[in-house]
Amino acid sequence: MILPVTVYGNPVLRKVAQDITPEYEGLADLIKNMFDTMYFAEGIGLAAPQVGKPIRIFMMDLSPLAEEFPEYQDFKKVFINAQILERSGEPVSDEEGCLSLPGIREKVERPDKIRITYVDENFVKYDEVYEGWAARVIQHEYDHIDGKLFIDYISPLRRRLLKGRLTAISKGKVEAKYRIRT
Ligand code: NI
Repeated sequence: MILPVTVYGNPVLRKVAQDITPEYEGLADLIKNMFDTMYFAEGIGLAAPQVGKPIRIFMMDLSPLAEEFPEYQDFKKVFINAQILERSGEPVSDEEGCLSLPGIREKVERPDKIRITYVDENFVKYDEVYEGWAARVIQHEYDHIDGKLFIDYISPLRRRLLKGRLTAISKGKVEAKYRIRT
């Protein structure tokens, strides 16, 4: 089932999301619906607050990047109860977008390397290191479960320039190919 995507201004996007247990009701359906929603909206990542749930789940499928980065051909993962333990490597600046900020793309500087612990959809534990685009997308999605958005990192000047568009998004006055929820 394709779910509506919460957009900038919806308070759920500013909550620090909570861990879940394997008994969380409807977990398998929620994960399936989030993937359906992410693919429909043509995103490469999605976090639970973006479908209105303040819980620590996010997922990504980086296969759209595989033409340029073949290592992402089968990179489809669910991260539950994630904790980033370390951020290292060079700070790298690259352009990001977000399904919760339709039409906005900005350069964001992030560390190139992270170490993260999480459980997958079967509650199997992992402790892994990621670099490059995987590290960037993980940090973007991880921010969502900590109540942050990529526009929090841009300069005050860029923010001022975007103010009108952000206000419009918060009122639902924005074009998107998917259903949105303000
Ligand atoms: Ni996002």
